[in-house]
Amino acid sequence: MNMKAVIVRQPGGVEQLSIGEYPKPQPHSDELLVRVHATALNRADIMQREGRYPPPQGASPLLGLEMAGVVEAVGPNCSGWKVGDRVCALLPGGGYAEYVTVPAKMAIPMPTTLSFSEAAAIPEVFLTAYQALFWIGKLRGGEKVLIHAGASGVGTAGIQMANMVGATPMITAGSAAKLDYCLKLGAKVAINYKDGEFAGHILNETHQKGVDLIIDPIGAAYWEQNITCMAIDGRLVLLATMGGASVDEVSLRKILIKRLRIQGSTLRAREQAYKVALTQEFVARVLPALEEGRIKPVIDTVMSWEDVAEAHYRMENNENIGKIVLRLIEEGDEPLNEMPAMPSPAEFSFDMGEEAAEDEDQFAVLSQSSLPGDGEEADISGEDDEDDFEEPDPEELEG
Ligand SMILES: NC(=O)c1ccc[n+]([C@@H]2O[C@H](COP(=O)([O-])OP(=O)(O)OC[C@H]3O[C@@H](n4cnc5c(N)ncnc54)[C@H](OP(=O)(O)O)[C@@H]3O)[C@@H](O)[C@H]2O)c1
Repeated sequence: MNMKAVIVRQPGGVEQLSIGEYPKPQPHSDELLVRVHATALNRADIMQREGRYPPPQGASPLLGLEMAGVVEAVGPNCSGWKVGDRVCALLPGGGYAEYVTVPAKMAIPMPTTLSFSEAAAIPEVFLTAYQALFWIGKLRGGEKVLIHAGASGVGTAGIQMANMVGATPMITAGSAAKLDYCLKLGAKVAINYKDGEFAGHILNETHQKGVDLIIDPIGAAYWEQNITCMAIDGRLVLLATMGGASVDEVSLRKILIKRLRIQGSTLRAREQAYKVALTQEFVARVLPALEEGRIKPVIDTVMSWEDVAEAHYRMENNENIGKIVLRLIEEGDEPLNEMPAMPSPAEFSFDMGEEAAEDEDQFAVLSQSSLPGDGEEADISGEDDEDDFEEPDPEELEG
C-alpha cells in the first residue's frame, strides 16, 4: 500500500522536489505507526537532496529527520502508548511523508500546549543542542557558552537551554535582525560575524578569560578565532563544517597550554540506544519547560508541504530565524490545552531563581552520565584520521 511522500526525483536543486507515491511503512512490534501532521526542515535535508548525505543504513531514504503526528497503530511490544496519542520524534529519515514508524521508546509525548507545527520543530534541534551543551559540552550553571549560527534552529534551542541552567549564552549570526532576535531570546552578547572578527569581542566581554564552551557548526573559517577565545579547560563541540572542513595550519600550542577539548558529533548516525537515552533524558528534563512555555521552539515559517521547494530555498539562502515547518494536514493545528498566560517570545524571562540552581545540580549530574559514546576524549593528536572518518561529504559535514 502506498502513501504520499516528498520525492527527490534525482539529486539536485529544489526543482527536484515533488510530492509523489511511496510504500507506506509497516511498524515492527516495538514501533508506533504515526500519521504525520507536520515535519520540519534541517540543513541535512538539503545535503541529502543534493546527493551529498545518504541516509544511514536501515533508515528510510525519504527526507525528514523529525515530525509530529497522531499514533495510528501500536506494535504489540510497545508500552505506554495508545492509538490517538499525539507524539513528536527524531527520525533517521522519512519525515516528509504521510506516515512514519517510530520506535516506541523514541516517541516524545507532545506538550499539550503546543500545536503540531510547534512540536514538529522540537526533536532534531533541541536534542542536538541538548546533547552538545550538556552531554558532550558538559555545560554548567555560571559558565559562558558561545553558540555560532545563533539564529539557526539549533542555535535558538541552545540559547534557551543554556539560560535554563544558569549559563551565559553568547552568539554570532549574520544579520542585524538575527542578532536582535537572539538577544530577545536570551543571548547576553550577539556579534555579527560579517562585521569582522568575533574573538576580540568575546575576550572583551569575558574580561580576557574566554568562553568555557563553543557550539560550532561552522568549522574551518572559525577555527583560529575559536581557539583564541576559549577559556582554560574550554570545550568545543563541532557539529558541522558550513564554513569549510580543512584548516591550513594548526598550532597545537594553545590547545596544549589551555588544556582544550575538541569533539565532533553527528546525531543521526548514533546508535539507537544512545538516541533513546538522549530522548528520555530530554523528556524528563526539558519537556516540562516546553509544556509550561518557559522555553519554546522558535518557528520561522509554517508552510504547506506542497511548498517544500520554496521552504528548501529559504533555508538554503540562510533566510530563516529558527525552524521552517511543513504542514501535511492543514486542519486541526490547535494545541489541546491553552498555554498558561505567558510573555510573548520576545519578552521571555529566563530568571528561574532557586529553580535554576536546582536544575543546575541536576544538569551537572546528568552531564556526568556514562551513556554510549559519552565521555569520549577529543583527539588532538594531530594525526590525520580522515581515512577512518566515514562521512559522505568531507567538505561540508552536517547533522
Ligand atoms: N552534528 C549534528 O548532530 C547536527 C545536528 C543538527 C544540526 N547540525 C548542524 O547544525 C547547523 C545548524 O542547523 P539548523 O538546521 O539549525 O540550521 P539553520 O536553521 O538552517 O541555520 C543555519 C544558519 O547558519 C548560518 N550559516 C550558514 N553558512 C554559514 C557560514 N559559512 N558561516 C557562518 N554562518 C553560516 C546562517 O545564518 P547567518 O545568517 O547567521 O549566517 C544559517 O541561517 C547546521 O550546520 C546543521 O547541519 C548538526
